[in-house]
Amino acid sequence: MTLQEEIARRRTFAVIAHPDAGKTTLTEKLLLFGGAIHVAGAVKSNKIKKGATSDFMEIERQRGISVATSVMGFEYQGAKINILDTPGHEDFAEDTYRTLTAVDSVIIVIDGAKGVEAQTRKLMNVCRMRNTPVIVFINKLDRPSKEPFELLDEVEAELHIKVRPLAFPISNGPTFKGVYNLYEKHLSLFTSDEKLTADATTVNFSDLSSPELDGYIGEKFAEQLRQDVDLVEGVYDDFDREAYLRGELAPVFFGSAVNNFGVRELLECFIRIAPSPRPAPAVDRLVEATEPKLTGFVFKIHANMDPNHRDRIAFMKICSGKFERNKNYLHVRSGKQLKFSSPTAFMAEKKSVIDEAFPGDIVGLHDTGNFKIGDTFTEGEKLKFTGIPSFAPEQFRYIENADPLKFKQLAKGVDQLMDEGVAQLFTSSLNGRKIIGTVGALQFEVIQYRLEHEYNASCRWEPISIYKACWIDSDNEEQLRDFKRRKHTNMAVDKHGRDVFLADTSYALTLAQENFKDIRFHFTSEF
Ligand code: G4P
Repeated sequence: MTLQEEIARRRTFAVIAHPDAGKTTLTEKLLLFGGAIHVAGAVKSNKIKKGATSDFMEIERQRGISVATSVMGFEYQGAKINILDTPGHEDFAEDTYRTLTAVDSVIIVIDGAKGVEAQTRKLMNVCRMRNTPVIVFINKLDRPSKEPFELLDEVEAELHIKVRPLAFPISNGPTFKGVYNLYEKHLSLFTSDEKLTADATTVNFSDLSSPELDGYIGEKFAEQLRQDVDLVEGVYDDFDREAYLRGELAPVFFGSAVNNFGVRELLECFIRIAPSPRPAPAVDRLVEATEPKLTGFVFKIHANMDPNHRDRIAFMKICSGKFERNKNYLHVRSGKQLKFSSPTAFMAEKKSVIDEAFPGDIVGLHDTGNFKIGDTFTEGEKLKFTGIPSFAPEQFRYIENADPLKFKQLAKGVDQLMDEGVAQLFTSSLNGRKIIGTVGALQFEVIQYRLEHEYNASCRWEPISIYKACWIDSDNEEQLRDFKRRKHTNMAVDKHGRDVFLADTSYALTLAQENFKDIRFHFTSEF
C-alpha cells in the first residue's frame, strides 16, 4: 500500500462525554464490531473497561478509575481505526484535553435524558479550539429521554455548533421502536435482545409513505416518523460533509450503546465521513500528512509501565511520513538523534512491537525520562507543533517536602510528573514557595502516591486560596510592570519562567481584566 493509501484509510478519534453518558460502553461496542474484543452478550462495562484498556498504573487498579489514556486500534472494512481512550473521571479532564490534540475527529456521547452537561460543554470548547470535526451520539434512548427536536436544539445552542440529524429515533423509553437512518434511508428496529445478537433488524425504505411502515412500528409511530422526517428535511439543510470537516456542523445519531443499538450505523457512517489525518499546524508552517518525511509529537506520557523500573512510555502521534523502527530521528528540543528499537503499537488489549507506522497512528516510545509533552520528532527539520497547550488549573496547593533527606528525590519526582503533564508547577513571586496547580482535586492524591511509590519521596500539601491561574502578557510594558508590582502577592512564574497571575476570586480576575485593559489574560499556556 502506498503512503497515500495508508493515510486515507486511517481514522484517529476519541469518544468523549460527560461522566456516565456512556462513553465506555460505546467504545466497547465499537471494539466489539471491529472484532477487537470478543464478548458474548452484555458484560458489565467496568469489566471490559479493565480488559480493553490498559491499566498500567498501580493507582488505577487501586482506585478503579481509569487514570490512563490509552489507544485502541482495529481494522474495520478496510479502515484502520485508532480510538484514543480518555479518562472517565472529571478530575483528569486535562488528560482528555491533551488527548484531543492528537485526534482528527471526535464522537461526543450525550445522555438522551440529561442532554448537554457541564463536561460536554468544556470538551466541546476544546474541540472548537482546533476546529475538530464532531459527531454527536445521543445515547440511552431505551430510557425515557427528552424529545429529539428539543435535544437537537439544545446541542446546537449549548455547544454552539450547527447540527444535522443523520438518524431519527422512533419514540424512546419503554416504547422505543428503533431509529430511522436518514443517511442510508433505512429503518433499524429495536429488539430487546439486541445486546445478545449485536444485529439489528434493518428494513430498507426508500419511501416512508409506504403502508408497510405501519406494519413494522404501528400506525401511530409511523405517522409520527413521517412528520418528523418531513420536519427534519424542511428545517435542516442537506448534510454538508465539508462543513462537518471544518468543525462547523455536527451530524447527530441516536441509539442505545448498552443495547448495541445504533452503534453499527454510527461506525459505518463514521468511517465514510470522518477525516483521515488532517494537516498539523506547526510554528512556521502547516505539515501535510502526505509529506514523505516523518514528523510527530508527544501528546501523552505514561509512567510506570513496569513497576520494577521507572520507565515511561511516550505516546507519539504521527503527523506525516512513515515511522520506522531503528531509524534515527531528530528529537527537536534536545537536538539529539534518537532511534527506537522497540516502538509499540496498540491493538485493543495488546501492545506489540512494530516495524512501521503511518500518519494517524500512535506509537509508544520507550522513555527514560527525557521526553516532555509537546516534544517533536522529525527527520532533521527544526519543527515545533502548536496547539498542545496547558490549561489554566483550577485547584491549588503548596507542596512541601515532608522528608528533608529526600529533597533530591522530591525535586526529580515533581519535575518528571510535571513533564508528564500530571499538573503544573508555579513558583510564587511573593515567597518563592512551590505551588502545584491541577484541573481536578484527585490529582493531588495521585501526585502524592506516585512520589512515594515511584520516587521514594514524600510531600505534604498546604492549602492556598486561589480561584484561577492565568498566563499574562502585554505589549504595554509599563502597564505590565505596574500590574506585577501591584499584584505582587498574586504573581508567580511557571516552569518556563512565564508570568502567571493567581486570581483569588472570580471578581478579582474580572476587576483585573477591567482595570488593566492592555494586559492579555490567557487561559491556556499557548498564546
Ligand atoms: P462513561 O464511560 O461515559 O462514564 O459511561 P459508561 O459507559 O460507564 O456508562 C454509564 C452507565 O450507563 C452504565 O451503567 C452503563 O451500563 C449505562 N449505559 C450506557 N449506555 C446505555 C444505554 O444505551 N442505555 C441504558 N439504559 N444505560 C446505558 P452503570 O449502572 O453505571 O454500570 P454497569 O453496572 O451497567 O456497568
